Amino acid sequence: MPVVTFQPSGKSVSVDPGTELLDAAKLANIEIATPCGGKGTCGKCLVRILSGEVESNSTEILSETEEKNAHVQACRTKVLDIPVTAGIPEQVEIKEGISTDGFIDASLIRKELFPKSPQLAPLAFKLYVEVPEPKPEDGFSDVDRLTRSLQPECSKKEFVYSLSVIRSLADMLRDNHGKVTATLISLPEQYTVIDVEPGDSTSRQYGIAIDIGTTTVSVLLIDQSIDKIIAIRADYNAQIKCGLDIISRINYANRADRLEELRLLALKTMNKLINQVSDDSNVRSEEIINAVISGNTTMIHLLLGINPEYIRLDPYTPTLFEVPYLPAIEIGIDINPDSLVYISPAVGSYVGGDITAGLLCTDLSTDTDQINLFIDIGTNGEIVVGNSEFLMTCACSAGPAFEGGGIEGGMRAALGAIEHVEVDETTGSAICSTIGDVPPGGICGTGMISLLANLFLSGWIDPAGKLNRTKESSNITLSSRQAFYTIVPAEETSTSKPIIISESEIANIIRAKAAIYSACCLMLDQVGIGFNDIVNVYIAGGFGRYLDLQASTIIGLIPDLPPEKFQFIGNASLIGSYMILISREFRKKQLSLTKRMTYIDLSKYPDFMDQYTAAQFLPHTDLSYFPTVQAMMKKK
Ligand code: FES
Repeated sequence: MPVVTFQPSGKSVSVDPGTELLDAAKLANIEIATPCGGKGTCGKCLVRILSGEVESNSTEILSETEEKNAHVQACRTKVLDIPVTAGIPEQVEIKEGISTDGFIDASLIRKELFPKSPQLAPLAFKLYVEVPEPKPEDGFSDVDRLTRSLQPECSKKEFVYSLSVIRSLADMLRDNHGKVTATLISLPEQYTVIDVEPGDSTSRQYGIAIDIGTTTVSVLLIDQSIDKIIAIRADYNAQIKCGLDIISRINYANRADRLEELRLLALKTMNKLINQVSDDSNVRSEEIINAVISGNTTMIHLLLGINPEYIRLDPYTPTLFEVPYLPAIEIGIDINPDSLVYISPAVGSYVGGDITAGLLCTDLSTDTDQINLFIDIGTNGEIVVGNSEFLMTCACSAGPAFEGGGIEGGMRAALGAIEHVEVDETTGSAICSTIGDVPPGGICGTGMISLLANLFLSGWIDPAGKLNRTKESSNITLSSRQAFYTIVPAEETSTSKPIIISESEIANIIRAKAAIYSACCLMLDQVGIGFNDIVNVYIAGGFGRYLDLQASTIIGLIPDLPPEKFQFIGNASLIGSYMILISREFRKKQLSLTKRMTYIDLSKYPDFMDQYTAAQFLPHTDLSYFPTVQAMMKKK
């Protein structure tokens, strides 16, 4: 078998001829980023052949110089039957740990909707009981006596015991004089007793709410005994290195070993965060007895190891929309292994459980006849419009730019992220403010929107997003046919690297905002209403503390409506998951919302392409849609 050696680490592996260089690197424990999922379109997996020969199918994405310098795309190159040495360039580091400052808005938890009834209980809960001692004359077994002690606190359902509880019950009751705490799962037909502990441990019962996004995974730890969020953590989804967006991940998962790799990466991120929130609060994993997971349809498929291929192939049919309760041990998440995990139901291939959970934080889940609009801006943009009579939904691809991904100087809304930019009309220089008022490390979604809006209003970019070449500015540099804008020079950043945005990155952001705006237009057209008929616009997404509404309108991301109509609700999927976790009423409400939603596939509407093309300008080709912005431009 030929030996493949990787430099500069010097690691080597023996592989079969025909093995992809990307797989050889993985076997050698070398990370190569594959933002396009190995499809050959991103050019980020370049390695240099230092000695030996390979069979390369590299695409025209390689420049002449790269080809001359023996660069190949690792995802399109196979090892021959001879030794080879490949040089790995420095990889773009995946930033770890995301600040959760202002991450969720507790006022969105709609407690007023909680009915005062026993239905409020979470799926799993603990009960303390004092079980009478066995008596020869009553003929009751240990299980019978425990059941009779639990019954007065529960509704009339059968009690079923796990084998591990049955095995330990005799000693548990006798050693503790019958004073024990049982953990029960309340299913429609029965209670399942999954644990019995000594004494009263009802003050230690916890739940975990998880939002699994394409870019970010977020976790809340909830103390069920006092119904309070006690810890929150978020981090980048470790799957990012296998593809930045959903389609790239689906492409990457086209082999069983890669599907398994993606499953393990999602679990790794999730379990790391669960362990962190547990450590933060001195909670043991067995004490976490409930879990709700919400995520887009592809993320849930990948987490469960289900082939997601058919999500992206016409007629775009996933394996399932509604996942049954699954034991934690089967999914592999680090909580009480016998607990059951609830996964939020999806509506379509591209409208998942994160949206049905997020809707619970809005008036779209109430009995109002006012028409409301919900827009979730993430790697995908998902839109829902409707009221108590109808709900219509669609999804469009926005790319990771608004979450700080896919842009060289981009980062999540964390300490040091630029969140506001003023551009000097005369010199073109930028004045930035960062989260935490510390030297900037990158620019987050809110910052990018602010930057584009201010570059546009000050005349440094035109409506098509091209930088102004007619005026002199030390912030603008030209390289071949592309221009770059320096937001912050190297000497002023925390990383000693300049924070720069290129014209092609600006074009990506414009495409993303155009997709979201035109998807909204198409949905409203289908319902036969205009933006002025909308009462509330809820905007969800990982923008951090806030979304600059004015800047978002200037670039044409959101409609030109009075500011009081907008409500930025942050990570609504996470808050919705929390609500589902603590109340079965919300679980029922989510299921009924899901059933009422009509999913629109934008690709089936030729009008969408026209709307999308028209929206690829700042703010839009038709300025009459943006009268406020038009007025601002006139003033300049
Ligand atoms: Fe190889 Fe994108 S070109 S992973």
